[in-house]
Amino acid sequence: MRIAVLTSGGDAPGMNAAVRAVVRCATFHGYEPYIVYQGYRGLIEGKIEKAPRFSDCINSGGTLIRTSRLPEFKEIEVRQIALDKLREHGIDALFVIGGDGSYQGALKLSEMGMPCFTIPGTIDNDIASTDFTIGFDTALNTILDAVDKLRDTSGSHQRCSVIEVMGRRCGDLAIFAGISGGAEIVITRETGFNKQEVLDTLKDAHEKGKQHAIVIITEGITDVHALAKEINEYSGFGCRATVLGHVQRGGSPTGIDRVLASSLGTYAVDLFASGLKNKAVGYVNGQLVNYDIDEALKMPRKVSELYKIMKKL
Ligand code: ADP
Ligand code: F6P
Repeated sequence: MRIAVLTSGGDAPGMNAAVRAVVRCATFHGYEPYIVYQGYRGLIEGKIEKAPRFSDCINSGGTLIRTSRLPEFKEIEVRQIALDKLREHGIDALFVIGGDGSYQGALKLSEMGMPCFTIPGTIDNDIASTDFTIGFDTALNTILDAVDKLRDTSGSHQRCSVIEVMGRRCGDLAIFAGISGGAEIVITRETGFNKQEVLDTLKDAHEKGKQHAIVIITEGITDVHALAKEINEYSGFGCRATVLGHVQRGGSPTGIDRVLASSLGTYAVDLFASGLKNKAVGYVNGQLVNYDIDEALKMPRKVSELYKIMKKL
């Protein structure tokens, strides 16, 4: 039996650990593991090779087998090319590490007859079928490092720091960073954004003698530099905005992400070995779980209610 693995969509720390787990667990079961380089794009270009043992990579960030975004993968003719390439190489199952877009691609390939397994790899934590995605913990800690540093300088200048973090469809990075970084305000799609309320809260805090403040906001909600200017003019705090950007996607994965990646990667291959196919693996309430990929994609995304505790902190 031959299996292939690819990474797709935005890279995430821990993807290499997940690829390593898939490759090694496949070898453990006596299968021949293959790598597809550069995600779905590499697949249609036939970049499929026998996997190396994948040594010295559990600690590396990014994805060594590369990734891509290929919007044309939504077209059946393009996916047919992918299927033909997999068949040419005698691949019996494809393991896709990525976010929900990548899951959609895997679902459609599975409907065309290629057994697929999906493993949640994205910093955004936006996959409903798992409590945590591979990469989220590392990105959170990268953000925290920046928040702690910005706290030093905003405290020294008695300023407010507005910090924009990633999370295209999910505010978890902002919410978790807000709680663990001791922010005064978190703004995400889940919390809603009422600019006047933000301005009034900061003004009130300033009047009560607060020395500095931290506001964490998810990308794509408002222009953070314009918001900083308004806070500056209204609240009494001097204010600066910082967009953390792609630095959040890099770095060596945390221990939690390495364990998550190793567990989910081996679990997915074990499911294949037990005769199952077209499964999305996840980690829910401390257990490894699997769902049909279409079922996983239909699950309503859990909205973190954790931001509600911030009022009490
Ligand atoms: P992520 O997997 O991190 O959510 P994207 O949303 O960019 O990242 O999706 C990664 C890739 O998955 C896309 O570039 C595309 O190749 C494929 N994909 C996304 N949506 C679909 C879809 N509806 N049908 C088929 N393939 C898709
Ligand atoms: O999917 C992860 C993510 O980092 C999002 O949070 C962000 O919006 C997006 O990728 C950025 O993607 P790109 O690499 O295209 O700039």
